[in-house]
Amino acid sequence: MSASSSSAGSTPAPSGLTGPVLVIGGAGYIGSHTVAELVRCGVPTIIYDNLSTGHRSAARATLVVGDMGNREQLLRAFREHRPRSVIHFAAKCFVGESVTDPAKYYLENVVYTHTLLEVMRERGVQEIVFSSTCATYGEPVRVPIDETHPQVPISPYGKTKLHIEHMLEDYTRAYGLRAAALRYFNAAGASQDGTLGEDHQPETHLIPLVLQVALGQRPEILIFGDDYPTPDGTCIRGYVHVEDLARAHLAALARLQAGVSSIRCNLGTGSGYSVREVIEAARRISGHPIPARVVARREGDPPCLVSGGTRARDLLGWQPQRGELEDILHDAWRFHSTKRNGMRG
Ligand code: UFG
Repeated sequence: MSASSSSAGSTPAPSGLTGPVLVIGGAGYIGSHTVAELVRCGVPTIIYDNLSTGHRSAARATLVVGDMGNREQLLRAFREHRPRSVIHFAAKCFVGESVTDPAKYYLENVVYTHTLLEVMRERGVQEIVFSSTCATYGEPVRVPIDETHPQVPISPYGKTKLHIEHMLEDYTRAYGLRAAALRYFNAAGASQDGTLGEDHQPETHLIPLVLQVALGQRPEILIFGDDYPTPDGTCIRGYVHVEDLARAHLAALARLQAGVSSIRCNLGTGSGYSVREVIEAARRISGHPIPARVVARREGDPPCLVSGGTRARDLLGWQPQRGELEDILHDAWRFHSTKRNGMRG
């Protein structure tokens, strides 16, 4: 059966999952899809987001506008909405910016997460699902990258995410926190109903940029290097559908609520696609020639990042349903071609 024949609406909620769930960063890209999934499953959900990169129009549940670093504001939201559990997406997540302005990353990712964990402790909230990243592995020493791969991040972004993983482990040991760190590979795609999708300002990710060329919003796509040790010379990445990521968060939270204390797992499909393969597939789907030009490598790009390991399947019962590149691009194309201003209208 083709992965594309399943529909998001047909998946039941993970059994035993209860709310209220407070989703920090729930108006952002992956957060908004996760909120939509929680709501679809009937789980009471509240969004806490400062809208610095998220969008009001992406909020699919009650939205509290606030900063995660503002302890009083956060505490007020906890007092008012009495969440049972937290899913935490709020972060600065540009690798390049983290190199030039690491202070912002240590403050907003590490320090503010500490604020969140302390508020959770004060309020007796014991379950958290956290957005980690394959960037915590750093330069791969072997591919596919399973969860036992050494974690030696090379960017401040990856380092801050690994610091948070360590904080969670220590809070679990000392205070009985139950925590899941989900290490995403390249999140991509859009909701199958076409209403939610990727909209970063500025956009730096390959798939939305390629599709913006197909829409005539950019003249060409720049390929950052074609002299990598890969079959066609361009970088290979493991793209994972944002709705598959969303389902994994619910599954992880259900496991924590059932009493599991610690989960660390990759979220990827096990497949990888080169930059040229992505552009080629986008040409087929959009019917546009998508002019491309090879330029110099982008600093810090490893040649190949593809997930390995079976923990997500074994621990969460998670399997990607839209794991094929064509499915991911198809949904992204529907979103970008119908919502030309992205989540901004
Ligand atoms: N690329 C281009 N041209 C572009 C944009 C990207 O050739 O205009 C290439 C990149 O060099 C890379 C691939 O397309 O090889 C994918 O790039 P993205 O920027 O879409 O994604 P990254 O792999 O750089 O980033 C992802 C996540 C980050 C995470 C990082 C870990 O988006 O959050 O992987 O390395 F930190």
